[in-house]
Formats: sequence, C-alpha cells, structure tokens
Amino acid sequence: MFDMFNEENAEAMKENYSATSSSSSGSSYSSSYNASAKGFVISVGGSVFIGEKPLTDKISEFCSVVNDLSSEFNIVLVVGGGRTARNYQDVATTLGANNFELDSIGIAATKLNAKLFTYKIEKSVGVLEKVIDAKKVIEMGKIPVFGGLSEGQTTDAVGALLAESLGYDFVNLSNVDGIFDCDPNENEEAILFKELSFSDMNFLVREKLLVPGQHLFVDPQAASILSRSKIISYFLNGDHLENFKNALRSYDYKGTIVHDVEDLIEKDNLSDEELRAERVVDELDEMPIRKTRKRVTKTKEIDPREIDFGK
Ligand code: UTP
Repeated sequence: MFDMFNEENAEAMKENYSATSSSSSGSSYSSSYNASAKGFVISVGGSVFIGEKPLTDKISEFCSVVNDLSSEFNIVLVVGGGRTARNYQDVATTLGANNFELDSIGIAATKLNAKLFTYKIEKSVGVLEKVIDAKKVIEMGKIPVFGGLSEGQTTDAVGALLAESLGYDFVNLSNVDGIFDCDPNENEEAILFKELSFSDMNFLVREKLLVPGQHLFVDPQAASILSRSKIISYFLNGDHLENFKNALRSYDYKGTIVHDVEDLIEKDNLSDEELRAERVVDELDEMPIRKTRKRVTKTKEIDPREIDFGK
C-alpha cells in the first residue's frame, strides 16, 4: 500500500530524481547532497496538522517551508497519527482489538498522514519503512519521510532513532510552545522551560507518567534514546513556522532546547513508589505537585503573549 525503498529500486530512484526535481508549482531544487550541512529530524505531531480531517493548508504551508529549508539543511520528516490514529483506534477498541493491534492501526494512520506530506515535499521518495534507508535517500539529495515503524512506541521514538543513526538534531513540533511544568492548555500559569538537561527531561517524563491521562511531550523510549546519545532536541510549536525556521537557523526562538547542560530542575532522589505516595498526599492537600516536588532554579518564565512570531 505504501511506497517502499530498498536496494533494488535505489538505482532507479537515482535516475528518476537525477540532477533536479521540479514540482507542479514550477520551482526546482538541486538534488546535490551536502554532507557538511547540519541535519535535523523533524517529528511532526499529528495534533498540529490533523484536525477532524487533515488540514490541507497547514500541511502545504509547512511542506513549503521544509522545501526552502532543505537547501540549507539535511532534513528528515516523521509524521504522527493525530486524530486519524485516534479515530481508528477508538473504533478498533470497540470492535475488540488488543493493544498490539491498536498500535498497528496507529502505525497505518501515521503512514497515511505521512503520505499526504510526500505530495508537497519536493524531494520526497515516498514513505520509508526502515531507519537505515534514510541515509541512502539523503545521499541522493532527497528528503526521507517516515510514519511509525514498530508497535509499542510512538513516532517520537522513530524520530529519536533516526536522529541517533544520522547524528542529527531532533525537533518535535506540537500544538504547544515547548516543554512546560504542567499542561499549558489547562493552566494559564504553566511555566515554559527555555532549556533543560537530559536528566531534567527524563525526570519530567517520569513525573508525568505517574499521573494517568497526562499528555507526554515525548514518549519515554524517545527520551531515553535522546539522552543516551545526547541528541540536541528542540520542542517547538508547529503552528509558528517563522519561529521554527529561526530555531533551525540558530536565531532567537521561543521553545525548549534539551541539551548537555547541568541540571536546571532540582529534584529529590525518590523512587517511583515514593513519588506516587507524595503525590497522593499532595492531592489530598489540593496542592499542585510541582510546588512541592521540584523547584525551578535557572529557567525564566516567558509570557507567551509578549512574543511576536511575525505570523
Ligand atoms: P503518534 O506518534 O502520532 O503518537 O502515533 P501520539 O504521541 O499518540 O500522537 P500525537 O503526537 O499526540 O498526535 C500514533 C499511534 O500509533 C502507534 C501508537 O499506538 C501511537 O499512539 N505507533 C506509532 C506505534 O505503535 N509505533 C510507531 O512507531 C508509531
């Protein structure tokens, strides 16, 4: 059903995409590969580009930006499932699917969404299925596009693995401005972390895992891969494309960077059990957990309303 990339068709693809590829819009892009260019794996959250239906204008605008950026950087795209995945998983649950089957149907949804992006990405060769194929496609001067790959994870983990294998930075685009101390959609006082260490990121993932129903900003498997290889990771709002470009170009941007710095969040060395017990006490006292469990020391609070993205 989906495009496959393998050794046999690599040569044919090289011919098909020789020298330049041009789009229906008439612009053409050089297919030359620049090994010294900086590389980014961009994990595109389904929440940004898939509403009740896929959002045509947003997908188109984003792909145009990626097309432009691909003359400066090596880029890999990973597309999430969003509402497409959830709609199908809900029905599959009702019909009796087990967790593995729900993941499988989620993967199919991510690939279906990814397919849409390939129509507008000028240097796409279709939706890829293997991490190792990304390098070959990049060396052909093309843009690898992925959906999900294997059950038991999300597309964040696919993005993290790709970043690790290629030595690229990781960029996560979601519908919020970065990593907050609590859900910014539910709490106006939420604090945006401008930067975090890898251990801070893992701490926040673990803390959120302890609260059922919390939306994780990155899945635990991805967090662990990003940490073990110290992959510079940006968490940005996918609705603000000027800001996204700024981040890649190392200009000022709004969002969270996770990198190899000293810890910025003070945390106690508690086990999961102890943390869970403390949380129960906090809930009884109706105290927000973050006021008692951790103290933000060096990050600065930003009022999102003060930032002009120019878009
Ligand atoms: P997403 O990566 O979109 O997951 O994959 P998500 O984090 O739930 O979605 P957003 O970013 O908030 O929109 C959708 C689902 O597909 C399955 C999982 O069930 C996941 O929840 N999936 C995806 C896999 O099992 N493996 C993969 O590699 C990718």
